[in-house]
Amino acid sequence: MSNRLEGGTQPPSWVPDEVDVTVPNAARMYDYLLGGYHNFAVDREYAEQVEQALPGARQGAYANRAFVGRVVRWLAGVGIRQFLDIGSGIPTAGNVHEIAEQAAPGVRVMYVDIDPVAVAHTRAILANYPRCGVLQADLRHPADIINHPDVNRVLDFSEPVAVLLTTVLYYISDADNPFRIVGQLRDAVVAGSYIALTHGIHMAELAEGQESVRRLLQRSPTSLHLRTREQVERLLAGLDVVAPGIVPVADWHPELSGGESEPWPSLLAAVGRKP
Ligand SMILES: C[S@@+](CC[C@H](N)C(=O)[O-])C[C@H]1O[C@@H](n2cnc3c(N)ncnc32)[C@H](O)[C@@H]1O
Repeated sequence: MSNRLEGGTQPPSWVPDEVDVTVPNAARMYDYLLGGYHNFAVDREYAEQVEQALPGARQGAYANRAFVGRVVRWLAGVGIRQFLDIGSGIPTAGNVHEIAEQAAPGVRVMYVDIDPVAVAHTRAILANYPRCGVLQADLRHPADIINHPDVNRVLDFSEPVAVLLTTVLYYISDADNPFRIVGQLRDAVVAGSYIALTHGIHMAELAEGQESVRRLLQRSPTSLHLRTREQVERLLAGLDVVAPGIVPVADWHPELSGGESEPWPSLLAAVGRKP
């Protein structure tokens, strides 16, 4: 794999050697949609095509990110002091450790992402946060994450943990069985822990655009797997879903936001507590 840009131009110094800058990537497309700078031409092209096929996708990204802020504040408010953020993405303003630290000083946050660019940037911004860490790992192998020494240096699994799975489960195919994955994470944490997720769902009125996006992302390493509301419910099996339930992302405790959250009905949000 080469990270050379077309025309022989060298990529910026922050690009890890193993990154192929000619292949679109979910973390960097999301970064672009959120107005970040850690993305390449191919990511921007794909993200623009997503926005064209599904107008408003950018608002969806903002709505999702706003949910992350609200849910972290909410979880800190119910006493959570440890976060495991899987599929954490490329750091933008308002990262989990910053929000959590403001809400409850002394929190511990472990970030996990499959993308080396996301991991490199997270590592750089964590330099002054000794209670936080980052690991490059694959959500499809949850046991490798839970048992990893770096994760166990940051998190104490004998105490409650909030596992964040925001806009990551829809990159997991049915063959990789997202229900098994969430179940394994649920089984690994103690009672009083939480799992928070957002997940894109099929919507009849968006069917054409969603199908175009699915086809587009099939050409990237992170293809898209939208699900039904019932399947999202199933992902939360064995957990007590907290109020307001499984709702469109902007409707999840909107009062905790600094400003208005954009509606994006095809993205559901929910938080489950392990009894
Ligand atoms: C759309 S971003 C979401 C970032 C963040 N969770 C949020 O909600 O703002 C999805 C992230 O999931 C990561 N991802 C995709 N598949 C993954 C996998 N199998 N294991 C770990 N991370 C994955 C991507 O690299 C990307 O950073």
